[in-house]
Amino acid sequence: MATKCFCAALLPILLCFMLCQPCYGTVSDIQCLKKLKASVDLDNKLEWTFNNNTEGSICVFNGVECWHPNENKVLALHLGSMGLKGKFPDGLENCSSMTSLDLSSNSLSGPIPADFSKRLPFITNLDLSYNSFSGQIPESLANCTYLNNINLQHNKLTGNIPGQLAALGRLAQFNVADNQLSGQIPSSLSKFPPSNFANQDLCGRPLSNDCTATSSSRTGVIVGSAVGGAVITFIIVAVILFILLRKMPAKKKGKDVEENKWAKSIKGAKGAKVSMFEKSVSKMKLNDLMKATGDFTKENIIGTGRSGTMYKATLPDGSFLAIKRLQDTQHLESQFTSEMSTLGSVKQRNLVPLLGYCIAKNERLLVYKYMPKGSLYDHLHPKNSEKKGLEWSLRLKIAIGTARGLAWLHHSCNPRILHRNISSKCILIDDDYEAKISDFGLARLMNPIDTHLSTFVNGEFGDLGYVAPEYTRTLVATPKGDVYSFGVVLLELITGEEPTRVSNAPENFKGSLVDWITYLSNNSILPDAIDKSLIGKDSDAELLQCMKVACSCVLSSPKERPTMFEVYQLLRAVGEKYHFSAADDELTMQPQNADPEDELIVAN
Ligand SMILES: *[C@@H]1O[C@H](CO)[C@@H](O)[C@H](O)[C@H]1NC(C)=O
Ligand SMILES: *[C@@H]1O[C@H](CO)[C@@H](O)[C@H](O)[C@H]1NC(C)=O
Ligand SMILES: *[C@@H]1O[C@H](CO)[C@@H](O)[C@H](O)[C@H]1NC(C)=O
Repeated sequence: MATKCFCAALLPILLCFMLCQPCYGTVSDIQCLKKLKASVDLDNKLEWTFNNNTEGSICVFNGVECWHPNENKVLALHLGSMGLKGKFPDGLENCSSMTSLDLSSNSLSGPIPADFSKRLPFITNLDLSYNSFSGQIPESLANCTYLNNINLQHNKLTGNIPGQLAALGRLAQFNVADNQLSGQIPSSLSKFPPSNFANQDLCGRPLSNDCTATSSSRTGVIVGSAVGGAVITFIIVAVILFILLRKMPAKKKGKDVEENKWAKSIKGAKGAKVSMFEKSVSKMKLNDLMKATGDFTKENIIGTGRSGTMYKATLPDGSFLAIKRLQDTQHLESQFTSEMSTLGSVKQRNLVPLLGYCIAKNERLLVYKYMPKGSLYDHLHPKNSEKKGLEWSLRLKIAIGTARGLAWLHHSCNPRILHRNISSKCILIDDDYEAKISDFGLARLMNPIDTHLSTFVNGEFGDLGYVAPEYTRTLVATPKGDVYSFGVVLLELITGEEPTRVSNAPENFKGSLVDWITYLSNNSILPDAIDKSLIGKDSDAELLQCMKVACSCVLSSPKERPTMFEVYQLLRAVGEKYHFSAADDELTMQPQNADPEDELIVAN
């Protein structure tokens, strides 16, 4: 009961509805596809047959992508050029976890439903281009707050572009070219290229015609231009051709410039100062960060992830820093500053220290200590296959260090911090092969209304192999979700495999690393999964013990997983003989605080 109230107080009504309702995902998703087929697949081009009710049966359908190959839960529909006919398809409201819909290049017509946002509230990618949809762009599209991409190109849409779309803070692509839209383009959309708005009667930025011209004077312009039209067109075409031809070789350079245009734009920004948490670190200005990263050039990028892009900065004294440019934070400056001072005080030996931050116009830059050895991912899956993988004792040291850092965040840190995006890419390694967790505390900065779904937005499915299965149902981050992701990292350390692609499995095996381990475990051949380079070196027993811990972390029921504190204790016992954890006293964990799994944690 208390849980429900907490939920009602802090989450939007829609989310609460989803959380507090039991989940009938799979029946519903089959019904979704049945209704869709019945409404638009009149010529049976999709060849979907519903005579098999096993979990995962719809996941092999043409154009259907599931969250998980063994679960009838639709992630995306890729139905471009499938010969679909009729009105906007029925049934999509029953694909309740769908995030991407592509119906492009079909023969669909009629209006886009006005209650679109009720049907697909979590959509991130919508492509209805090259159909014959008519009527207005529904205002309710603005309620689909996760939308990244909207493509409505080449339809028969009329009316204005709704100003409400300004509410779509994540919009990265927007195209309505080749429709019959009219009126002023909302200023929030003026950042997109003019060609995306090519419609007879649209006006305002980014187009070059402004909207102040009255319709009568426009008529005059039209008459006038009819006379001089041919001549002017000829001249314009000639000029454009001339410019294009001259620009051709310079094009590539132009693109590079584009990439750090944001950096140029904040150069010399007024009032931009770099705030450092430690007095020992020398004072810096935005200008120094610019110099140290060569104005944030591409060459200095050392990593990109969900929360932003990391750059390597070289200071005049030859030392290094890592600077993160945060991806669209939605916090006010004051909120951001207070979050920063909290994060700046979070210090533990298995966390990458946050040294400072800088606010410059809309940009938010975080200054971290630089970790020269890079990420665990790079060490486990070297691009150059000649390079030898890590030996077992180092892997175990990294596993224990990561577990210690996470256990500290969950159980000792106040306020408690959930990481939510643990992967081998965010675990960095220092000179002594001590694990350092990066990106902690950033999930909350990204999106104030923090649903887990926001993790998947921006098309970044790269970390999918690490995501706990319950997240697709509950949308709420929990400590047990972090435990699951850590379990996947542990499996990576033991098997040397990537979480989404198992090179050691038979060719027709399509599942993730966790699926592979589950399969081997069910067939009592778990030891087959262990990295061949580690076997027979006096550590087989440790490998199996760690495998057992990893398997308990990735159990599908969150309640059955151990807490991070327990995981740390188990791994520490396995590694006792190596004496990694001599300086361990800083850990004052409170095990009584260690079973928060029934509590919904909205803020981290
Ligand atoms: C499909 O969605 C409709 C409308 O939201 C709902 O009434 C119906 O129960 C759903 N069907 C299933 C099987 O969940
Ligand atoms: C049903 O689908 C499952 C999963 O795709 C498949 O393994 C099984 O063989 C199918 N059964 C029948 C009777 O087609
Ligand atoms: C969109 O959301 C707003 C605010 O929650 C609500 O008033 C409005 O009715 C919604 N529109 C539609 C079409 O769902």
